[in-house]
Amino acid sequence: MRVSVRDLQVTYRAPGGLALPALGPISFEVEPEQFVAIVGPSGCGKSSLIRVLAGLQKPSSGSAYLNHQPIQEPSSAVGLMFQDSNLMPWRTVIDNIALPLELAGVSKMERRAQAADLIPQLGLEGFEEAYPGELSGGMAQRVALGRVLIQRPEVLLLDEPFGALDALTREQISLDLLQLWQQSGATAIMVTHDIREAVLLADRVFVFSQRPGKLIADVHITLPRPRHSDDMFNEAFGDFVRQVRAAIDRA
Ligand SMILES: Nc1ncnc2c1ncn2[C@@H]1O[C@H](COP(=O)(O)OP(=O)(O)O)[C@@H](O)[C@H]1O
Ligand SMILES: [Mg+2]
Repeated sequence: MRVSVRDLQVTYRAPGGLALPALGPISFEVEPEQFVAIVGPSGCGKSSLIRVLAGLQKPSSGSAYLNHQPIQEPSSAVGLMFQDSNLMPWRTVIDNIALPLELAGVSKMERRAQAADLIPQLGLEGFEEAYPGELSGGMAQRVALGRVLIQRPEVLLLDEPFGALDALTREQISLDLLQLWQQSGATAIMVTHDIREAVLLADRVFVFSQRPGKLIADVHITLPRPRHSDDMFNEAFGDFVRQVRAAIDRA
């Protein structure tokens, strides 16, 4: 799916009525199956943008589109993931992953079978019947990722999904996300603070300015795919990381 925004602005009201511009005006177009990473200072409107794209919030002006259709409400074609896994503590891993299918009325046997198919790719073998309270933060995010992917979304919106994880866990889970995204054919838009993660995953890295966030750089990451962890040691990888960092320093 193509994701685009045109002259989008999000403005909040501060107590007392003062306008607080959070985002934009901003315009961009993300091609079907592209992976865009967004980096930018805290408070520049990244989460606001994700909520608008998810149909959870109306822009103050301008528009956002999925395949040229204005986004008015949440769509089942869009999968959303946040820093907090929001798992149901009384459900096992497999039943948490299968939850969207249950809500869609899929039979228990069928939804457990589909969830079980995802388990190896998520690196969750042996944890099928575990409860969220027994999982590490990284494992919980793997379950959350499974719960999004089981819906076969055409658009993946990821708002700092690995932000609370330690560096090594984060690298492993982002490599698994890379594989899963590649197979999914979804368009992905991911907010991250990790420049190396952005370069490893994305086709383009958007750099936002200070609030109200504007698009100040669109760095095309032309590293070949499929990508692997070894790619992070390449000279070209380091060049892209430096390019993104330089753009952030100008933000
Ligand atoms: N519901 C809200 N009401 C008022 N201000 C908000 C609201 N949500 C976010 N903001 C403000 O808008 C700005 C952008 O927020 P956000 O989109 O969360 O940025 P980011 O995700 O880049 O940190 C911040 O200054 C934040 O305090
Ligand atoms: Mg945010």
